[in-house]
Amino acid sequence: MTVIQPICEISDNADQPGGHPVGRKVRDKIMSNQQKVVVITGASQGIGEALVKAYRDRDFRVVATSRSIQQGADPDILAVAGDIADPATADRVVKEALAKFGRIDTLVNNAGIFTAKPFTEFTAEDFAANIGTNVAGFFHISQRAAAEMLKQGSGHIVSITASVTDHAMSNVPAVLASLTKGGINSATKGLAIEYASRGIRVNAVSPGVIKTPMHAPETHEFLAALHPVGRMGEIRDIVDAVLYLETASFVTGEILHVDGGQSAGH
Ligand SMILES: NC(=O)c1ccc[n+]([C@@H]2O[C@H](COP(=O)([O-])OP(=O)(O)OC[C@H]3O[C@@H](n4cnc5c(N)ncnc54)[C@H](OP(=O)(O)O)[C@@H]3O)[C@@H](O)[C@H]2O)c1
Repeated sequence: MTVIQPICEISDNADQPGGHPVGRKVRDKIMSNQQKVVVITGASQGIGEALVKAYRDRDFRVVATSRSIQQGADPDILAVAGDIADPATADRVVKEALAKFGRIDTLVNNAGIFTAKPFTEFTAEDFAANIGTNVAGFFHISQRAAAEMLKQGSGHIVSITASVTDHAMSNVPAVLASLTKGGINSATKGLAIEYASRGIRVNAVSPGVIKTPMHAPETHEFLAALHPVGRMGEIRDIVDAVLYLETASFVTGEILHVDGGQSAGH
């Protein structure tokens, strides 16, 4: 009682001319701690960049990370640069998120790479890069974000995987994608069950081929033909799926295919 009363009294006139500045600070602090916070990896371009905008439009505060990301003018977007394969990056992202915004409600594991080659042509560098970005990049930051979500008793982890892991194509050999993104699909189900009774949902969006800087325009015709619907996906298709999962409180352990029918058959 004695704690709440003074805050209410002071905050009541915080917006009025001559309103109490301490009251304004206290009220802003309370408000800011209630605003939801999302961490988005691979946020500098493509799907990740669009997710940053979509979550800001929903009034989330955003921690945006990638190797090349730079701080912009919006004070509600914190940019943290680093290689997501490195556990030190995951440490920094989570520490800086908590220091600036005080909480982590959602983690979007979006950073990822895709290397398509016949199996015997993959190099040791291909292997290390795919395991590093896709698997270690998922593991380290998910582990740290989940620890915070467990303290809060709520949270959502959603990862962007790849539909090709569920329906291998003879003309796009990509076993490293199967190994890494397929592993994340499986880990999504494992974590969803581990955390089901503790307020944390864990899902994945599994895209077909999406028009992003990942694909040169001259490849688009070939890539469009890989989908039963006859076109590539748009970035908006993936953003909409992530936003659906964000509010789908009864959905966990879901691998949501957004792939123009690819996973259904050919
Ligand atoms: N586009 C598709 O057709 C498609 C299909 C299926 C799945 N996906 C998945 O969807 C996600 C986004 O794809 P996209 O097409 O938007 O990709 P993109 O345009 O190539 O962007 C990839 C993002 O990940 C970041 N990134 C890459 N390696 C990183 C590393 N080691 N550390 C930190 N950040 C790293 C990049 O930023 P920096 O260069 O600044 O680090 C960039 O922001 C990926 O996981 C991808 O596998 C895409």
